[in-house]
Amino acid sequence: MNPDRFEPALHALFDEFPVSPNPNGRRFTRVLDEVPGLACENNLALLNLAASMLEPEESYVEVGSLRGTSLIAAMVGNDDADFVAIDDFSMKDASRSQLESNIEQFGLNLPTIVEGDAFQVIPSGALAGKRVGVYYYDAGHAYEQQFDGLRMIEPWLADRALLIVDDTDWEQVEQATRDYLEQQPKARLLVWIPGKDNGYPHWWEGVKAFAWESDAGVLPEPTARAAAVVELGVER
Ligand SMILES: C[S@@+](CC[C@H](N)C(=O)[O-])C[C@H]1O[C@@H](n2cnc3c(N)ncnc32)[C@H](O)[C@@H]1O
Repeated sequence: MNPDRFEPALHALFDEFPVSPNPNGRRFTRVLDEVPGLACENNLALLNLAASMLEPEESYVEVGSLRGTSLIAAMVGNDDADFVAIDDFSMKDASRSQLESNIEQFGLNLPTIVEGDAFQVIPSGALAGKRVGVYYYDAGHAYEQQFDGLRMIEPWLADRALLIVDDTDWEQVEQATRDYLEQQPKARLLVWIPGKDNGYPHWWEGVKAFAWESDAGVLPEPTARAAAVVELGVER
C-alpha cells in the first residue's frame, strides 16, 4: 500500500478533519449498534479507509479483535482484501465463536482468525506467506506490549505499509510509539489524532498512523560501504 495516499484520503473523508463527529460516505453506526466495541465511528472509518487502500496480495492484520467491531468495519465493502484477526480472547466475555457469528451477521466471509497470544504466534510464523499492508494493533497497551507489538510485525510488512495504533492518549502508548519512531527510521508519523480527553471526542482515546517504508533510512549500498571504510580508518 502507498502510505502517502492515506493522509489526504483521510482528510477527504470528513467535512472538517479531525473535528467532524462522523465521516462522509460509508457509515458505521450499524456496526457500533450491533457489535458494541471500543471505538468511535471515526476510528472505524479510518480503518475501513486503510483496508480499502491495500494492494493485491497484501493483508490487513489486526491484533485485538474482541467482538469484531474494528475488524467488521475494516472489512465492510473491501470484499477482495485478505484479513487476519489475532486474539487470545483473554478479555472478559470474548470468544472466537462470538467473533465469528458477529462477522457472519454482516454477511462477510470469515477471515483468518488466529487464536493465541500475538507475542507468541506472530514471531513463530502465524503470518507466514502474508504481506501485511495494514497492521492495526489494539491489544495490550502496557509500554512493552505496545513497543513489541510494533517491532514484532516488521518482518511480515510489505515494502510500504501502514501501521495503526489505538489509544494513543494513554501515556504509556504515547511513550512507546514515540520511542518506536525514534528508533526505527523505516517508520514515519503520518497521522496523530488525539482522543476524547484531549479535545477530540469523536476519536475514542486517540489514534496514530505510521508509514512504513522498508528502504527508508537505509544508505544505498556503495555509500554505506564507503562510510564504514572511513570509520575504520582504512585507506581505499
Ligand atoms: C481493546 S480490545 C480490542 C477492541 C477491538 N479492536 C474493538 O474494536 O472493539 C483488546 C483485545 O486484545 C486481546 N488481547 C489482549 N492481549 C492479547 C495478546 N497478547 N494476544 C492476542 N490478543 C490479545 C483481548 O482478548 C481483547 O479482545
